[in-house]
Amino acid sequence: MFNPYEIRKDFPILDREINGYKLIYFDNAATSQKPRQVIDVMKEFYEKYNANIHRGVHTLSQEASELYENAHKEVANFINADGMEEIVFVKNTTEAINLVAYSWALNKLSEGDEVLTTLLEHHSNIIPWEILSKIRGFKVKYADINADGTLNIESLEQLTTEKTRIICVSHVSNVTGAINDVKRIAKLAHEYDAIIILDGAQSVPHMPIDVKNLDVDFLAFSGHKMLGPTGIGVLYGKRELLEEMEPFLGGGSMIKSVRCQSPNGNCQIEWHDLPWKFEAGTPNICGGIGLMEAVKYLRRIGMENVQRHERELTEYALKRFGEFEKVKFYGPKDASLKCGIIPFNIDGMNPHDVALMLDSFGIMVRSGYHCAEPLHRRLGIKGSARASFYIYNTKEEIDRFIEVLRSIESVA
Ligand SMILES: Cc1ncc(COP(=O)(O)O)c(C=O)c1O
Repeated sequence: MFNPYEIRKDFPILDREINGYKLIYFDNAATSQKPRQVIDVMKEFYEKYNANIHRGVHTLSQEASELYENAHKEVANFINADGMEEIVFVKNTTEAINLVAYSWALNKLSEGDEVLTTLLEHHSNIIPWEILSKIRGFKVKYADINADGTLNIESLEQLTTEKTRIICVSHVSNVTGAINDVKRIAKLAHEYDAIIILDGAQSVPHMPIDVKNLDVDFLAFSGHKMLGPTGIGVLYGKRELLEEMEPFLGGGSMIKSVRCQSPNGNCQIEWHDLPWKFEAGTPNICGGIGLMEAVKYLRRIGMENVQRHERELTEYALKRFGEFEKVKFYGPKDASLKCGIIPFNIDGMNPHDVALMLDSFGIMVRSGYHCAEPLHRRLGIKGSARASFYIYNTKEEIDRFIEVLRSIESVA
């Protein structure tokens, strides 16, 4: 039985009071809180197993290497990848997308090619393509959105042509929470021989994900949004694509051999096997092990239960948002079309002021553009406040939030 009150007991930070009020943490789309199990396993790593990996024959190095490899296997199972070879550990979603940009697109795209993305993306799925387009001369195109902030799929379809080499979209918008029809977009990309890169930063933590079923070529996500630590993220890639790609960063741990005997020529280098070819230098070993524990925690709960709970919260919150006169919220009004993210504004108030007033009552929400300025501009708003939910949030917290929001509305 899914019980958020039991789950809350695993999250020490939720016992905090802020400004004299019990903490209500509604900024989960920015980063999630961490359960004691994750905190403990990381402490245990430094207390018992700390050593560099893949570099020593001694016991500690062997144990640390095994734990780090197991972390890749756990993540592979979690998203139904074909083994740890398809799982590259990176810093975060941002680095994962940049890895594909610099290892795949830099070598394959040139003038005349097109990268297709959308107006609802996080900046991390816009800026790498804009930077690279200036180097390689390809075009970046943006599919439009509908009035409710959802993706206009017809616009995406119309913009897809023979020139399209990459379609990169988020699975779930970090502003509106809207879920995109990834299977339809993957099919479209493959019909045109393009690849699809899925930004799963807001979906992998909140719903069951099966990369085979979605048929995406790459999937990027961050550990810190799914109960894991900061500084660890994942790039999933289909094995054949990762095999044919050049490495992203060069250095130790990503090569099998380097021979530089020839006085005039370059060294002869053999890249390491997957996924190590893409993990140059000493990686975030402890972070990987923390992520493994976070994944185990989510699997014990069951991702269907995670999604169901958040949907119930969202449905309830959307209903309660309807009670206001001066509070406007954006995104789909049907909770089944979205994840637990609700952006809103109070008429005549700056979203940062709204967030500060909520903070004075112990309620944490994000405010501003949420790294998605194009989406806000397209909606004609100068930012928003954003409440986002996770497994440990409750209807009781939503009631309190609505109560405080009503008092703020009354002074607006
Ligand atoms: C949809 C989406 N993509 C990408 C990112 C970037 O994630 P990170 O900052 O962990 O790289 C975020 C973070 O909020 C996001 O919500």
